[in-house]
Amino acid sequence: MAYSEEIRKRRTFAIVSHPDAGKTTLTEKLLLFGGAIHVAGAVKSNKIRKTATSDWMDIEKQRGISVATSVMAFDYAGHKINILDTPGHQDFAEDTFRTLTAVDSVIIVIDIAKGVETQTRKLMEVCRMRKTPVIVFVNKMDRDGKDPFDLLDEIEEELQIKVRPLSWPIDMGQAFRGVYNIYEKKLDLYTPSKQYVTESLEFKDIQNPELEKHIGPGLAGSLRADLELIEGVYPSFDVETYLRGDIAPVFFGSALNNFGVKELLDCFIRIAPSPRPVQALERRVEPEEENFSGFVFKIHANMDPNHRSCIAFVKVCSGHFERNVNYRHVRFDKLMRFSSPTAFMAQKKETVEEAFAGDIIGLPDTGNFKIGDTLTAGEELHFKGLPSFSPEMFKYIENADPMKAKQLNKGIGQLMDEGVAQLFTNQFNGRKIIGTVGQLQFEVIQYRLLHEYGAQCKWEPISLYKACWIASDKKETLENFRKRKMQYMALDKEGREVYLADSAYVLAMAQHDFPDISFHFSSEF
Ligand code: G4P
Repeated sequence: MAYSEEIRKRRTFAIVSHPDAGKTTLTEKLLLFGGAIHVAGAVKSNKIRKTATSDWMDIEKQRGISVATSVMAFDYAGHKINILDTPGHQDFAEDTFRTLTAVDSVIIVIDIAKGVETQTRKLMEVCRMRKTPVIVFVNKMDRDGKDPFDLLDEIEEELQIKVRPLSWPIDMGQAFRGVYNIYEKKLDLYTPSKQYVTESLEFKDIQNPELEKHIGPGLAGSLRADLELIEGVYPSFDVETYLRGDIAPVFFGSALNNFGVKELLDCFIRIAPSPRPVQALERRVEPEEENFSGFVFKIHANMDPNHRSCIAFVKVCSGHFERNVNYRHVRFDKLMRFSSPTAFMAQKKETVEEAFAGDIIGLPDTGNFKIGDTLTAGEELHFKGLPSFSPEMFKYIENADPMKAKQLNKGIGQLMDEGVAQLFTNQFNGRKIIGTVGQLQFEVIQYRLLHEYGAQCKWEPISLYKACWIASDKKETLENFRKRKMQYMALDKEGREVYLADSAYVLAMAQHDFPDISFHFSSEF
C-alpha cells in the first residue's frame, strides 16, 4: 500500500496522570529529545493551579494554553510522534476521555510517593474499556517513596492491569543511583541534573563484578536479588500482550532530572502501536486504506470573543488528507474543503498540505462541526467510541434576559456541540438541564454565554444522581417505565431517551422493578 510506510512511522499517544505526578515535565523532556524545543520550561502546564479558585483569568489561561499544547508533534529516530495533551483539571475529565479515543496508546505517569491516585484510576478505566496499550512511567525516583514491589502490586490491584517492569530502580530519594534497564540490558547511572542526560552502560551480565564498582556491593547485591525476583514473579515481556492491552510495561525515572526518559522513548517507539484500525458503525476502517476518513474528537473555541471561530481537531483514521480537496461531512451530507488545515509541530501551529492516518489536524470551523462528526472521501461512515458519560452534577439552565432568548439557545447549542457539557431536555416540563463533571464547567458556560453570545443565564438547583441511557426490546415495558417515571424522562442532545435518576436508591429500585430495561451510564453500549 502506498501510504503504509508513512503510517507505520507514526506513534499517536497521550500522557495521562493525576495532577502533579509529572505529566507536563515528562512531555517537555520528550520534546527536548525530539529537538522540538530547546529549553526546559517551554511547555506550560495547562493545569489550573490548585490554590487558585476558579476565577476567569484561570479559565481563559487554561483555554489559551491548552490549544497551543493540544497536540505536539515531533520527529524522533525515523518516527513521527504525536503527543495529545489532556487537561489536568478533573472538571474537564470528559475532554480527556474524548482525547483518549484519538490515541493508539497511552503513557501513565505515577508519582513514586503518591502511588495510584483517583484520576489515574478513572483514566485507566477508559483505557481498559478501549483496550488501549499502556506503558507506566514511575516518576520522581529522586524522592523517597513507596517500595517499588509494593507499588507494582498497588498498580495491578488498583488499575486492574498486569504489569511487567522493564527497568528497575537502584535505591531512591537522596540515595538514588539509577536504574537497570531490563529491556536493553543496560546500566543507567543517575546524576542529578536537569540538563544532563543519563549515562548508559552496556551491561548484559548482571553477575559481572563490575556492577560492584559502579554501585557498591550492597546495592549490587540487592539489585541482583530484585532482578531474580522479577524474573521469577512477572511473566517475561511479550509485545503482543502489551498491544492487546493485557500487560503494562513499567519504567522508573525522574522526569525533572531527565532520567529514564530517553530509555522510555526508545522503548516506546519500538513497541508502541502505529495507528490502529478504527471501528465505524458500518465497518472496520484500516489505517492503510487509500481513502481519507477521520472524526472530530475535540473542538476548541477561539479565545477572542469577537471572532467566534473554533478549531475542530480531527483524527485521521485512514488514508491521506490533502489541503483544498473536497471531503464529505457525513452528518450534513455536504462537501467541504479546507484551505488552511493546521498541524501542530511542538509549540507551532502551521498550515499543512497533507496528513496521514494517525495524525491530528486542526480545521478552522465556524460552527459546522460537533464532537463525533465524521469526514470522509465520500463513504457513509460513523465512527464509534465517542460516548457521552453520565454527568456528575446537574442544574436547570434558565434565561436571565428575556430579550436574548435566541442568543441563549444558540449559545447553549454550540457549547454543547463543542462538548463543554451535556444538555438534557426534561420531557415533562420542557426545561433544560445542563450536566457537567464539575462546578467549573457551569462557570465556564455562564461566562462564555455572556462574552461570546451576549446571553445571560442563571442556574437553578435540581437534585439528580445520574443520567441513564435506557434501552429495551420490550416496547410495552418501556412505555410503562416512561409513564411511571414521567417527571424524570429526558432527551439528550441527539434525541436519545435518558432517565434522570434522583438517587442511587431510586435507580436501584427502578432496575429491580424493570429487569427488562437496561440502564447505561454512557450513551454508547
Ligand atoms: P502535572 O503536569 O502532572 O500536573 O505535573 P508537573 O509536570 O507540572 O509536575 C508537578 C511538580 O512535580 C512540579 O513541581 C515538577 O517540577 C515536579 N516534578 C516533576 N517531575 C519530577 C521529578 O522527577 N522529581 C521531582 N523531585 N519533582 C518532579 P512544582 O513545584 O509544582 O512546579 P514547578 O514550579 O517546578 O514548575
